[in-house]
Amino acid sequence: MELLRALVFLSMAALVAHGRDTDLSRDSFPKDFVFGTASSAYQVEGNALKYGRGPCIWDTFLKFPGATPDNATANVTVDEYHRYMDDVDNMVRVGFDAYRFSISWSRIFPSGIGRYNKDGVDYYHRLIDYMLANKITPYVVLYHYDLPEVLNNQYNGWLSPRVVPDFAAFADFCFKTYGDRVKNWFTINEPRMMASHGYGDGFFAPGRCSGCRFGGNSATEPYIAGHHLLLAHAAAVKIYRDKYIHAQQGKIGILLDFVWYEPLTYTTEDEFAAHRAREFTLGWFMHPITYGHYPETMQKFVGERLPNFTEEQSRLVQGSADVVGINHYTTYYVKNYENLTHMSYANDWHAQLVYERNGVPIGKQAHSKWLYVVPWGFYKAVIHVKDKYRNPLMIIGENGIDQSGSDTLPHALYDNFRIDYFDQYLHELKRATDDGARVTGYFAWSLLDNFEWRMGFTSKFGIVYVDRKTFTRYPKDSTRWFRKISKDVADK
Ligand SMILES: *[C@@H]1O[C@H](CO)[C@@H](O)[C@H](O)[C@H]1NC(C)=O
Ligand SMILES: *[C@@H]1O[C@H](CO)[C@@H](O)[C@H](O)[C@H]1NC(C)=O
Ligand SMILES: *[C@@H]1O[C@H](CO)[C@@H](O)[C@H](O)[C@H]1NC(C)=O
Ligand SMILES: *[C@@H]1O[C@H](CO)[C@@H](O)[C@H](O)[C@H]1NC(C)=O
Repeated sequence: MELLRALVFLSMAALVAHGRDTDLSRDSFPKDFVFGTASSAYQVEGNALKYGRGPCIWDTFLKFPGATPDNATANVTVDEYHRYMDDVDNMVRVGFDAYRFSISWSRIFPSGIGRYNKDGVDYYHRLIDYMLANKITPYVVLYHYDLPEVLNNQYNGWLSPRVVPDFAAFADFCFKTYGDRVKNWFTINEPRMMASHGYGDGFFAPGRCSGCRFGGNSATEPYIAGHHLLLAHAAAVKIYRDKYIHAQQGKIGILLDFVWYEPLTYTTEDEFAAHRAREFTLGWFMHPITYGHYPETMQKFVGERLPNFTEEQSRLVQGSADVVGINHYTTYYVKNYENLTHMSYANDWHAQLVYERNGVPIGKQAHSKWLYVVPWGFYKAVIHVKDKYRNPLMIIGENGIDQSGSDTLPHALYDNFRIDYFDQYLHELKRATDDGARVTGYFAWSLLDNFEWRMGFTSKFGIVYVDRKTFTRYPKDSTRWFRKISKDVADK
């Protein structure tokens, strides 16, 4: 059966491959560079309310009509909970070295704290053991948007300081339980997306903002949530360093989303607007982690609404990442713009995003309207992290491009546009590592066409297609392209 599947995979890839060749190889990148794909628990596991898992804030959020264009839920998604072996086998065939996945907090602790759920704990044991048996290195994220619903009901989740010790206890449990085999930990994925979309515009669970149906205050809550996300991250890192790092010898970090913001014109006003955009996104988290306090620009523009770190908190947060994951997809122009309609995180930037200059689009648009193909922005983003934050150890935690969810077989497998994207973006990454950025790995988003949050299943980012009726996996042309790059390992 295994052999048959492998043959089907290889012959399909050979038949459908129209993809361009590439001059990239493992030798293009530093020694021991890691290639992999990324996912998150909620997006791939399915079985959202089975095997003892407690609900998370997304289960509740998706119940309101219109939450996704296709009324999607994560009840089943791509059922990785049962099909993880297929997925790991596909990683091996492509020649990947690593897989970035997240642990569902409410699958481990259905009530957020207290008694653990043995079925959930055992699932991650199986996944990790199967990966290691197949030489796929686990990169494990502890939080990817999926707060246990109970904690939202009890104390408004990330708005309360109570979330800090609760998250730290969950992290402690994971280090203790899996840390003998997991050497690459990430506390929180994209705290900015959580704080700004969860509490600034209500686009993500728990759906809070000024005027939102679930309540909220767009001028204050994003900063409070962001503050607690940073403190929770730092508390988990402290536990790892105090109790586990000596015996387990791993690394721990955080994953941050970072669009590159290019000034629309090279006037002082637009240059400063682009600077603010970078400080309000990456800098919001990376500045405290590097320097122990929020960026001066944010302090100036947000004023009293921006919480402050105590001396002790500042010491905990500063230096709290051995490695920083950068999730990068696209680039926008920015112009100076003061939006006085109401006070909010988005308007605090005093900047407006623009998608063309002199009538020329910044890049080709993907299926997702927000995603423009702008490879040169990737180089600038990585070099910015290197130059501004003391050249930290980095991974690229996410990078990829989508196609329409209505693409069907076999057409959906011919993803030349995706090969072009990866080829151009990886060339820019090579340029950045050649220029001294300390990037040690690259994770494509995503292995599978999975549940894409507010897009439901109407957007496909996978390099592997999933038949939503049978859950059979069909590798796309881009898997064959990756196989060329990672060849020497695949053929060992
Ligand atoms: C989603 O659900 C709403 C409410 O039940 C319904 O009106 C709408 O037609 C559904 N949309 C789709 C794409 O199924
Ligand atoms: C998903 O599961 C929830 C809880 O069991 C249920 O209320 C809902 O109807 C399910 N949705 C679908 C589309 O199966
Ligand atoms: C935060 O601390 C800084 C440095 O001590 C201080 O300048 C600033 O006014 C404080 N901000 C608030 C909102 O308390
Ligand atoms: C100004 O802010 C409001 C409220 O956040 C928003 O709806 C509007 O789109 C913004 N305008 C511009 C031009 O950014």
